[in-house]
Amino acid sequence: MKYRLGLIGHPIKHSLSPWIHARFLEKSKIEGTYSIFDLREHELKKQIDAFRDEGIRGFNVTIPYKQKIIPLLDGVDRMAREIGAVNTVANMNGKLIGFNTDGIGYLKSLEQAFPETLMNREISILIIGAGGAARGIYYILNQFGFSSIDIANRTYQNAQSIAALNTRKNTTNILSLEDASTMSGAYDLIIQTTNVGMRPNEAASPIRTSSINKSTIVSDIIYQPIWTKLLQEAAENGARVHHGHTMLLYQAKFAFEKWFGHSPSLEDMDRQLKQLLEG
Ligand code: ATR
Repeated sequence: MKYRLGLIGHPIKHSLSPWIHARFLEKSKIEGTYSIFDLREHELKKQIDAFRDEGIRGFNVTIPYKQKIIPLLDGVDRMAREIGAVNTVANMNGKLIGFNTDGIGYLKSLEQAFPETLMNREISILIIGAGGAARGIYYILNQFGFSSIDIANRTYQNAQSIAALNTRKNTTNILSLEDASTMSGAYDLIIQTTNVGMRPNEAASPIRTSSINKSTIVSDIIYQPIWTKLLQEAAENGARVHHGHTMLLYQAKFAFEKWFGHSPSLEDMDRQLKQLLEG
């Protein structure tokens, strides 16, 4: 049997998901194809219905449809509903069910790179940005039980709406980006989730890290470029860095598990993906 998989979004030019899932299929000895569907909004419903009719095994959803897809699906699991965004859809007995693997993908990539971070829930965390990606990451860190998760964002209200996900009553302060620059030394883990610094705007960085601590871990979920300006400066100032392509790999791994019930090991893929990104 040949399984069909895909990715919907717009615009999708240089997605790495086809490369990742082709490797997963090959490693798992599953025959299948992973295709790109670059859709306009008015084409969305028709395509989802076609996926259902054709019995697609599953698909990923990217910008700008992670929220818009929800009413078009047959169901959404609890985590995706609470986050308010779907990045993975699985065909479960003919029903298209939405999931969110972004947050858990981030957490696992962090655990893989810095296992000690997950052993102390009292560390102080700062998330920069308050968009869809920040929402998924905040949700999972809060569920995991971290006790202090601040949010710095350009628009205060957007940060407030994420802080409303705090059901476990951790401490969450909302900061401006300027304050985050001054306070960067106060955090054990800083997670950058905005698109500031993404190609072709590599010269930009959302915060300065001149006062950062050497023990701080700075994570950037941007992976194009792999070395964002923020990560370069943080490393120059002595901090430890965590690159964005690893979250991409893990969110894909969890999506693949939703489709096939298991996933191959990521051994080697981190290095290969890094090489691919570095051209
Ligand atoms: P994603 O789904 O990738 O998280 P998003 O939902 O569009 O993308 O969120 C983008 C994030 O980047 C937001 O936090 C946004 O800040 P606002 O809430 O103020 O809009 C942030 N962002 C985008 N461009 C920015 C810029 N030039 N300076 C600072 N923050 C920016």
